[in-house]
Amino acid sequence: MLKTSAHCPQTYTKEDADTSFSAARWLEYFLDNKQNRTVTQFSDDLSISQELQEPLIRSLQRFQIGETGEGKHLKKFAKEKKDPIYEQCIDLFLKEEHSHARILAEMIAALDGNLITWHWSDLVFILLRRALGLKTEIFILLIAEIVGKCFYLQCARNLKNERLSDTFSVIVLDEIAHVEFHCDFLRTELITYPQPVRYAIYWAWATLFYAASLVFVLDHRLALAGLEVSQRKFLDDCSTTFHRAASRALAI
Ligand SMILES: [Fe+2]
Ligand SMILES: [Fe+2]
Repeated sequence: MLKTSAHCPQTYTKEDADTSFSAARWLEYFLDNKQNRTVTQFSDDLSISQELQEPLIRSLQRFQIGETGEGKHLKKFAKEKKDPIYEQCIDLFLKEEHSHARILAEMIAALDGNLITWHWSDLVFILLRRALGLKTEIFILLIAEIVGKCFYLQCARNLKNERLSDTFSVIVLDEIAHVEFHCDFLRTELITYPQPVRYAIYWAWATLFYAASLVFVLDHRLALAGLEVSQRKFLDDCSTTFHRAASRALAI
């Protein structure tokens, strides 16, 4: 079950969304989150139902690779913004993703699975993200963040193992903040674009998002079935989260 925690990211109101991006405020959030982070370790065996074990390992292996990326391009693009505070935020954001990768790796080992070194879905995301500049990188990154947040949420809600469920709850809170952080940044970058341009970006982004979500539910259908989440329900959740993020990022 998803819980609130001492480092639960703030929930934004419409008023907040109308204020401009503050790298200093986000730096404070990331530093605070780092300070209050509960270190979870999965050194011993984990038991979950036999039907779920294999498909869950398979799904977590894919996420683990996605969370491992060094973020070289993101760092390079962030550097071009010439805002050292934003650069620090990106650095701490990447460190949080790496801590997710470590936790997932431990979970996989405790579930008696192996890590994989590459997966085609990760490669596709990397190639798309590098296509243009910082904004494109973030639009594509947000697709993975939103789908990931929705999947981790189902793990937090439906896994019968309390240690796993609690850990996924903490990761979900991190991912909610990541989505807000990147949307906040995009909003400030794009607010001066004419409205028809922002709508055009929306349609292109939404098309990619729905295509990626569909591929995801097909690829992860066994884990979703094991978590007793219908593909339809999962897609609805992704869609709701995406619309909230898109209206925030594009001010539409
Ligand atoms: Fe993550
Ligand atoms: Fe994230």
